[in-house]
Amino acid sequence: MALWGGRFSGKADVKFKMFNDSLRFDYRLAEQDIIASIAWSKALLSVQVLSNDEQLKLESALQDLLVLVLHDNQEILNSTAEDIHSWVEIQLIDKLGDLGKKLHTGRSRNDQVATDLKLWCKKKGFALRQELQTLEATLVKLARLNQDVVIPGYTHLQRAQPVTFSHWCLAYVEMLERDKSRLENCLSRLDTCPLGSGALAGTAYAIDRTALAYDLGFKSATRNSLDAVADRDHVIELMSCAALSMSHLSRMAEDLIFYNSGEAAFVEMSDQVTSGSSLMPQKKNPDAMELIRGKSGRVFGSLASMLMTLKGLPLAYNKDMQEDKEGLFDALDTWQDCLAIASIVLADIKVNVERTEKAAQGGYANATDLADYLVKKGVPFRASHQMVGEIVLFAIQKSVALEDLTLLEFKKFTPLIENDVYIVLMLQSILNARKALGGVAPEQIEFALKEAEHRLLHEKS
Ligand code: ARG
Repeated sequence: MALWGGRFSGKADVKFKMFNDSLRFDYRLAEQDIIASIAWSKALLSVQVLSNDEQLKLESALQDLLVLVLHDNQEILNSTAEDIHSWVEIQLIDKLGDLGKKLHTGRSRNDQVATDLKLWCKKKGFALRQELQTLEATLVKLARLNQDVVIPGYTHLQRAQPVTFSHWCLAYVEMLERDKSRLENCLSRLDTCPLGSGALAGTAYAIDRTALAYDLGFKSATRNSLDAVADRDHVIELMSCAALSMSHLSRMAEDLIFYNSGEAAFVEMSDQVTSGSSLMPQKKNPDAMELIRGKSGRVFGSLASMLMTLKGLPLAYNKDMQEDKEGLFDALDTWQDCLAIASIVLADIKVNVERTEKAAQGGYANATDLADYLVKKGVPFRASHQMVGEIVLFAIQKSVALEDLTLLEFKKFTPLIENDVYIVLMLQSILNARKALGGVAPEQIEFALKEAEHRLLHEKS
């Protein structure tokens, strides 16, 4: 049964009905639709559209419905109702007869869907924030556990300078912190209540919309009814938060896939999050990370498609906007799943310290420090860069590391190099040298870790 049959004499084409209906995906707004309906019934009471008794009856029927939908969605999905708003109303009419027909007074599915979706976004946003926090905590723990483990740092996927595994972990903590602040920012902007905006021009009942907004837990009521029903900025903003965060997760996944590769063998992922090959018995594949990397694509796709859908839409509500939900649900579910899986993988990852340190030692990753050594001896950096380049070339031709060159060999390039060069070329000295804020010196890592631990502890309370 449709809610708008009066104007029509013919029945909807079966295919059109399937095309038009949104219940199969907007059933996820059931809880929010019921909660918003309860608040609306109170608003109707305040303007004497409903009596006390009627409001109580409606509210109690809606509460029963809430228990039902929280328990089981199947009932909704079996229905032929057009969308979740129709479904809720039909249930009330079935149960309460004419009283059920009063609830839609002064309200439209346009302000209803806008309100439901924002309520849903707020709830989902809270869960996502938790998930970001959990992943951050996992990374900080992992960083603490591997505080002094040296790994090669890369640029252009070439070994560049040594860093620590903890520094790598904390780099992703930084990204997640930004993701979290972006999410919070967007949640605070969407915290305005559209209910009472009617179809587009506002409701004709003298409802206190600010009180209604507070009742639903919003910070305020929306200011303009046209905008309130047509606004989907929050959908795009949340999707873009998801997209950017997924790009961080996919970079992390790529790093870990490489670290886990046979060639690097820096880390080993647990059996719980890897899979085997049906043919090659030796394989242990980093599927979890590959899926995270892969799924970032669909999240970017949802964002792009929502931007396209909204582009050029005239005010106010248009049915095009029904397309907002599937992409949003999918993008945010995917983001949430990926955050959770990343946390599971990282909680159980083993770092192969011998491999990482050996790799950090190779690749002439101490060349910059040799150049800095010469700078300290008075050579201008550009000149020392040139000189060290020549020394590296010499060492490559000899197939030895810089620290394996004899003093005599060094002296062929410059008499300024003395015995103290060997200490400078050691891994620990290279790390120690980077004492400026944000660098890899042990005291900086300790400082960064303490700060991150404190932040997480503080935010939890
Ligand atoms: N199912 C619709 C949606 O998700 C609800 C709003 C319908 N409004 C309307 N005037 N047809 O957008």
